[in-house]
Amino acid sequence: MKQIHIGIIGLGTVGTGVARLLVENSDVISARLGAELVFKKGADLDIARDRGMNFAPGVLTTDPYEVINDPEIDIVLEMIGGIDLARQFICRCIETGKHVVTANKALLASHGNQLFRLAAEKGVALAYEASVGGCMPIIKTIRESLVGNRIQAVTGILNGTCNYILTRITREGMSFEQALDLAKAEGYAEADPSLDVDGFDTAHKLAVLSAIAFGMEINYDDIHIEGISEITPMDIEFAAQCGYAIKLLAITKFDGQSVEARVHPTMIPLEDMLSNVSGTMNAVTVSGDAVGDMILYGHGAGMMPTASAVISDVVDIARSIVAGGAMRVPVLSFRMEQIRKMAV
Ligand code: HSE
Repeated sequence: MKQIHIGIIGLGTVGTGVARLLVENSDVISARLGAELVFKKGADLDIARDRGMNFAPGVLTTDPYEVINDPEIDIVLEMIGGIDLARQFICRCIETGKHVVTANKALLASHGNQLFRLAAEKGVALAYEASVGGCMPIIKTIRESLVGNRIQAVTGILNGTCNYILTRITREGMSFEQALDLAKAEGYAEADPSLDVDGFDTAHKLAVLSAIAFGMEINYDDIHIEGISEITPMDIEFAAQCGYAIKLLAITKFDGQSVEARVHPTMIPLEDMLSNVSGTMNAVTVSGDAVGDMILYGHGAGMMPTASAVISDVVDIARSIVAGGAMRVPVLSFRMEQIRKMAV
C-alpha cells in the first residue's frame, strides 16, 4: 500500500488529537483512502510531556525544521497557532513543495491571501477545514456541496468558548469569570482568551467564510466586531423573559453588489434553532439560491472534533497524491470578479 508521510508542527491539544487519530484510526483511514498515512515526525518545544500515547522512537523532535526539511514528508500540519512563527513555517513548507494543513484562523484572517497565492504559485495545497467550526465541514460544504448555489448569507455561532460562557451563565447563573475559567481548563479557549470573548476569533472565522462564500479575498479589517464581555447575567435574564436567547453571532450577507459582515451578541427568538445551540457546540446556517437554508451543527472546539476536521483535509490531499498529484484542493472557491465579468 502506498505510504504518505505526515509531519506535525505543534503537539498541543489539536496536534496531539491529530497524532492520536493517525495512529488509533489508521485502519479505517487507510481502508477509505487506499493508502497509509504514516506519522513520520512531530515537533514541539516540550516533547517530554505525557500525551496519553506512545510515539515510535525518533518521531518527536524539538526542531520544527526537522519536519520541514524532511524530504520524505508530503504533508505538514501547522498546529502551533499564533501568527509570525506559524507563517514562517508555512511559507517554508510551501516553498519546499510540501502541502500544508492548518487550523490557524488568525493567520488566515491576517495573511491568508498571501499564503494562498504562494501555495497556488507552487502548486501545493493549503487546506484549512479545521480553521472554522471545529468538526463541522463548513468549508467543504460551501466550496463543494453548495458549488451550484449563489450563496446569499452565512450566519452562525462560531466560537465554542463564548457559547459555553453564555450557556453556563444562562443555565447555572455562573459568573462570566467562572465560566471563562472552565472553558480555559477544558482547552477550548485561545491562549489569549480575549480573542474569544472580544469576538476576534469569531471574526477571523467569518473572514474565511465570507471569502469562500462570496469569492472575495479575505477581508478581516472591514468586519464589524463586538464581543460578549459586556453581557451581564441580567441582560440574559431579561432577554429570556422576552423570549430570546443571547448568542454571539457571525453574520455575512451578499446582496449582489456588496458584502456585509459583522460579529456581535444577538437576541435570537427561543424557537429559532440557533438559540438552542449550547455549550461548546457551533452551528451555521448557509442560505443558497438553490438549497434555501441548511444548517450544520457540531462541536466547535476541543481536541478530537478539531482533529477530525484536520484529518479530513489530510485525506483530501492524500487522495490527490494517490491520484497522481492532480490537485483536488482548490485555494479559494472562485473569484467573484470572474463571475461578474461573465455576467457582463
Ligand atoms: N477558541 C476557539 C473556540 C477554539 O472557542 O471556538 C476553536 O476555534
